[in-house]
Amino acid sequence: MDFSVVILAAGQGVRMRSAFPKVLHPIGGVPILERIVITAQKLKPKNTVVVYGHKGEKLQEALQHYPLIWAEQATQQGTGHAVRMALPAVGKVDKILILCGDVPLIKEATLKKLLEKTKDHPLGFITLNTSNNRGLGRVIRNAKGEVISVVEEKDATPEQRNITEINTGIFAVSTQLMQDFLPKLSANNLQKEYYLTDIIKLAVQDQVPILTVAADTESEVLGINDKLQLAQLERLYQKEQAEHLMTQGVTLLDPARFDLRGELTVGEDVVIDINAVFEGKVKLGNQVKIGPNVIIKNSEIHDGTQILANSVIEGAVIGAACSIGPFARIRPGTNLSVNVKVGNFVEMKSASVGSKSKVNHLSYIGDATIGQGVNVGAGTITCNYDGKNKHHTTIGDNVFIGSDTQLIAPVRIGHGATIGAGTTVTRDVDPNHLVHNRIEQRIVKNWAGRETSEE
Ligand code: UD1
Ligand code: CA
Repeated sequence: MDFSVVILAAGQGVRMRSAFPKVLHPIGGVPILERIVITAQKLKPKNTVVVYGHKGEKLQEALQHYPLIWAEQATQQGTGHAVRMALPAVGKVDKILILCGDVPLIKEATLKKLLEKTKDHPLGFITLNTSNNRGLGRVIRNAKGEVISVVEEKDATPEQRNITEINTGIFAVSTQLMQDFLPKLSANNLQKEYYLTDIIKLAVQDQVPILTVAADTESEVLGINDKLQLAQLERLYQKEQAEHLMTQGVTLLDPARFDLRGELTVGEDVVIDINAVFEGKVKLGNQVKIGPNVIIKNSEIHDGTQILANSVIEGAVIGAACSIGPFARIRPGTNLSVNVKVGNFVEMKSASVGSKSKVNHLSYIGDATIGQGVNVGAGTITCNYDGKNKHHTTIGDNVFIGSDTQLIAPVRIGHGATIGAGTTVTRDVDPNHLVHNRIEQRIVKNWAGRETSEE
């Protein structure tokens, strides 16, 4: 069966009170509309048509990497009118699957169920039983339990408002039926809109059977209209992700204080303390420990490594049995071997560090290659930038760098060399040499009595 997807996203989203288009606000780090597009693509539709209103350029820019067809609905005259604007773009298909641009968590499995159930039927839609039915269209059934209409809350009688089965707005309709029914819709209702839901009445008149599929979970059909619902859905989404990780054996010290904005792959016995944020693609090995307030983005952390409190790691590979932080910042391009220690207030960027090396306190290591067993003292700075270009620092195995050292790149320190504390290294150092250039200590006697100090 051939089908196309139509995503309705022309609504203004006034209640968000935002200059930013509603459907570009993120849930779990991914814009609402992008989530729906990703799910739709998994179903392999012929075309995916997005109906947009204003700020179309912003939507198109944000979703430029997806194969979408954009259909403009210049004035928002209702969901039925919106589908009509999309019709010319759906192509030669048997069916149209209608999705709402503001319902981000709809599951592939539920949509498949709808498509499967309506394979040989011209009309079906997804409903949900919920007492949380405020603002939603109520599903009206006859004594035999057959759907006879969907009534919008604004148009509903008090009895109808008590109905807990609601329309999720997700429909699978034969293209033929859409073409027949859409021109017949009227805007004769309180909102003066062409309601897509009125195709149900037309189907009943034509004795077309109407099928429904119940959504598994409430979160997958919840729509977002304001910042409150955005936050509520974000929490629901995070709760589901936290629960999924716990069933995989992760220990979350508080699942309510856990945020995943991307994909997290985990080994055995991973422990994650409170307020950790994971972004992009993150991989944690066995027995990895993540301390409180840690942020990790697009990185790999290997077996037995611990990331201590308040560390920020991005675009890095951290080897096994390392200890990072507290308060460490590891920036993109950093690659740490096994047993490396990076302590507090250390920043690293494009640094590669060999096994058993230590950078324990207050240092900046950028554009550097550090060998094995190196000790980098407190306050060491790789001066990698001359105002125009970046330069590399290379430090051999077993080098000892004293505290408060500046390494003016490009520079190479041979293996086994020692750099005395307070040295500014401007030239290469040969293996096993000692260098220091700290200035001689001068003593001025009786400084306390300034007047006499010139004597
Ligand atoms: C709609 C349904 C309601 C259902 C609810 C589920 C209708 C008439 N009502 O109501 O039964 O319970 O969704 O969330 O269909 N849109 C356009 N162009 C328009 C109007 C809307 O593209 O002219 C888009 C919106 O951007 C949104 C979707 O269609 O993504 C639904 O529109 P919205 O105004 O939110 O409809 P609801 O009142 O929520
Ligand atoms: Ca809505």
